[in-house]
Amino acid sequence: MTPRYETHPITWNESFSVGVDLMDQHHQQLASLINRLAERTSEDLNSEPMVDILGALVRYAEYHFRQEEELMATANYQELETHRQEHLQFCEIISETCYGASLGIVGARELFSYLTRWWRNHILHEDMKYKPLLSALPEHLRRGAA
Ligand SMILES: [Fe+2]
Ligand SMILES: [Fe+2]
Repeated sequence: MTPRYETHPITWNESFSVGVDLMDQHHQQLASLINRLAERTSEDLNSEPMVDILGALVRYAEYHFRQEEELMATANYQELETHRQEHLQFCEIISETCYGASLGIVGARELFSYLTRWWRNHILHEDMKYKPLLSALPEHLRRGAA
């Protein structure tokens, strides 16, 4: 049975590799931002350190999504639109969660659990679909726009 909440920090391993170093580095950076919440699950999401962590996470996620979408466009990936919707939905959920936190109806434990599951599922089920195509891009294109 799936536990109600994820409580363990994310550890990256090769099974999460999407075959493009830059994207793997981004995913690891996202995981480390999400993991910063793991140590603070008893804290209020409206506390200053939490707001800082969430802000950094949202900014980094947006940066990563943009770069990933650019790479998919470069590779002429057919499912780009569907993938873009997944990214958008993630951003919407984060902003709804911040709103929920401001009303006191969402806590850090729920958020950490949601983010951990999203990170894992999105990489393994969505990002992984572009692996054959993007890993075949020439090296200079795989490095992205910076
Ligand atoms: Fe993605
Ligand atoms: Fe990704």
